[in-house]
Amino acid sequence: MSPFLLTRTLDEHAAESALRTDVLEGLRMAQKALPPKWFYDSRGSELFEEITRLPEYYPTRAEREILLARATEIAAASGARTLIELGSGSSEKTRHLIDALPALHAYVPVDVSESALAGAARELLRRHPRLLVHALIADFTSALRLPQTPGPRLVAFLGGTIGNLLPPERQTFLRAVRAMLSPGDALLLGTDLVKEEAVLVAAYDDAQGVTAEFNRNVLHVINRELDADFDPDAFAHVARWNPDEEWIEMRLRAREAQTVKIRGLDLVVPFATGEDVRTEVSAKFRQEGVKSELASAGMELTEWWTDSEGRFALSLAKAS
Ligand code: AVJ
Repeated sequence: MSPFLLTRTLDEHAAESALRTDVLEGLRMAQKALPPKWFYDSRGSELFEEITRLPEYYPTRAEREILLARATEIAAASGARTLIELGSGSSEKTRHLIDALPALHAYVPVDVSESALAGAARELLRRHPRLLVHALIADFTSALRLPQTPGPRLVAFLGGTIGNLLPPERQTFLRAVRAMLSPGDALLLGTDLVKEEAVLVAAYDDAQGVTAEFNRNVLHVINRELDADFDPDAFAHVARWNPDEEWIEMRLRAREAQTVKIRGLDLVVPFATGEDVRTEVSAKFRQEGVKSELASAGMELTEWWTDSEGRFALSLAKAS
């Protein structure tokens, strides 16, 4: 008997209609854009896992180093009995945290990818057979109905995924996280840090082209889900550092002029030669910025840990 529960708050219908709206709005804009959450079907989730093992993609290794070095401190500071992980993916790094939390009763991973959730739960329950794992299939930016589990709660948002939200979305998201926290609860937040441009660009434009495939995967998703005829190879992968916004932008650039039919939306989308679709921003942070964004959302930064090379940070925050 495995204490594993799975709650689907995102039914397939809702997901499909969210995709329709995002594609319709995103491809009609003068500057075309698609939200990064649509990368992550099962192939996209696998490609992302492959990215995390690339030599150029340092954030996963840097964050794991901090989690391993600080697990005992995080556990002592939070005393968590429930760990809620937003955008949990494979939960691979979280294992180190779970191993270090002796009082942990429940783990609540939240992700849009059912395949990632199921795999992660299987692995965790093997290691911690008495842990209650209550997975939520949900978009972490939507209102979450959390299961009734004992406090204190630790809400973890790792991997630097907060950087995929635009600044106003980040504020909305952080306020929603703040609303989940009672006195004694904490937020553990992973943020990639501003660094040398060449290092950042290489992390998003690897030599093996895995990130390029990951980027193009959104076109495969739209082809399948919305009966479209994108030729993914007709789009080049572009990763640029935007120094004013301090974020990496991923784009798909039309190699030549073309029209794409999206039958499921009854839409024809023209592309000029060299025209871009922005598919992701990945913001990089500084301590002052993290502190002030947390403060604006009603939280206080209590700990700031970086890896030995100062590439990535984990922040611990509480309600202020
Ligand atoms: C870890 C999901 C935030 O922005 O680095 C990796 C996703 N995009 N390579 C990141 C990603 C391109 C990623 N997140």
